Amino acid sequence: MNTLNKLSPGPMDRARHSSNPSMDNTPLPLPRRDLLCKAVLHYVTTDAVPIGMKRQPLEEKANSHLENFSLKNFINQKGMDLDERTKAFKEFTSHLEGEGLILYRRQVKGATKRQVTIHDPLTGGEKEMLMFGSNNYLSLAAHPHVVNSVKNYIDQYGIGAGGPPLLNGTTELHVQVEKKLAQFKGLDDTILFSSGFLAQLGWMTALIDKEDMVFFDEYSHASFFEGLKLTKCKKLPFRHNDLEGLEKKLDKYKHTGKTCWICVEGVYSMDGDLAPLNEVIEIAKRHNCRVAVDDAHGTGVIGEGKGTAHHFNIDPADIDIHFGTFSKAFGTSGGFVCAKQDLINYMRFMSRAHMFSAALPAPVVASVMAGLEVMEREKELFSNLSESVEYLLKKLDELGIAAESESAIIPILIPEGVNIRKMALEFHQQGIFVNSVEFPAVPLDKQRFRISMMATHTEEDIDQLVSVIKDLFIKYNIITVQ
Ligand SMILES: Cc1ncc(COP(=O)(O)O)c(C=O)c1O
Repeated sequence: MNTLNKLSPGPMDRARHSSNPSMDNTPLPLPRRDLLCKAVLHYVTTDAVPIGMKRQPLEEKANSHLENFSLKNFINQKGMDLDERTKAFKEFTSHLEGEGLILYRRQVKGATKRQVTIHDPLTGGEKEMLMFGSNNYLSLAAHPHVVNSVKNYIDQYGIGAGGPPLLNGTTELHVQVEKKLAQFKGLDDTILFSSGFLAQLGWMTALIDKEDMVFFDEYSHASFFEGLKLTKCKKLPFRHNDLEGLEKKLDKYKHTGKTCWICVEGVYSMDGDLAPLNEVIEIAKRHNCRVAVDDAHGTGVIGEGKGTAHHFNIDPADIDIHFGTFSKAFGTSGGFVCAKQDLINYMRFMSRAHMFSAALPAPVVASVMAGLEVMEREKELFSNLSESVEYLLKKLDELGIAAESESAIIPILIPEGVNIRKMALEFHQQGIFVNSVEFPAVPLDKQRFRISMMATHTEEDIDQLVSVIKDLFIKYNIITVQ
């Protein structure tokens, strides 16, 4: 029997027959067997508690927020074997593909610039699009200095050493980049990892043990939650940027940890807002806690590229762990932690994600070196980026669309009841590449388009984006014609 026959009838079918695009909200079709899962999803993404279920601890709720949601939640059904599960999942995705409602894995032809050519999954042909969905904030992914330097370094170093950093994987270029990045961020030294995700697991498992207590913002990234799991430490989330709540929790629970950590992000990846870092550090000092800042979206963007701590004039030494990634503003991939020398030395020998994984290949390290040179020389990239963000916010404000941001990430909320997936399809058709974040990744009333700005976007690009937003917001009855 077709596994899709087990899908609960209703939302999808209703959607297809509805003529008003703003009313035909289509929650993802869940297999019938997944009613429990559906209830759980409802539970973790709203404050309602389904009958017969206990209130979910905040930590789990936080873990299901934003980027941390995984598609496995749809089909991770007890009692279904792997073949059945993968078949159901295939049917689920094919169904969406048939509706033209899956825009994942669009293939970009060539480098990711402000304008890209993609392979259009809807027509099978090529499509020119304006890119507003890439974290390549400074457009370094295809910057001529970066690309040319990498070519030269490849001639010198080849493409990799074939081993981990402690054994044969460290070249003199790695050490130069570690030092240069640390200097840029105002710290002693840097440890490199092959991705930001691994860097998170790497520093956490090396430095936090099970007697320690971690207080963390509920909007933290998926990699942080994975790190937490591995450390087996005690942990307590606090509401997003709620420092009063954090202090209450510290007063009550800090005695339970051998060492207490406060972990926040510099720039929050889905909302584009900043952590109030000065206040976080004051609290940490008052309560004798260590501080870790995930500045994945702050590094290379604010504080002249030096990140959120610099933006707030904070002494870098007040933060124990400055975490970052090369996958955003540096336009490549890899992760890093900058810290005091003793911490870095210790992690080099204790961080399994560093020790037992091949070193970043020289071309990637070279691109980071060249990226730092560009950040030092071309300060106008930062002003271009912030001016573009301001321009977009101003244009949205003129349309009566509420959007806020202190970074290069601009969330545009779409009211509950509006079919965001259909809107996403229309953005695509209009040649605008944006990412949508929908229920159940976020609560229904927090579904959004996440706009990522780049330093190379022009006013015309932004005008084109705004014009499509305007048309769609009118079409979907979110704003009225002006
Ligand atoms: C806040 C945050 N931390 C960590 C990561 C992981 O970084 P990477 O993509 O380099 O593995 C990301 C990437 O999405 C992120 O947004």
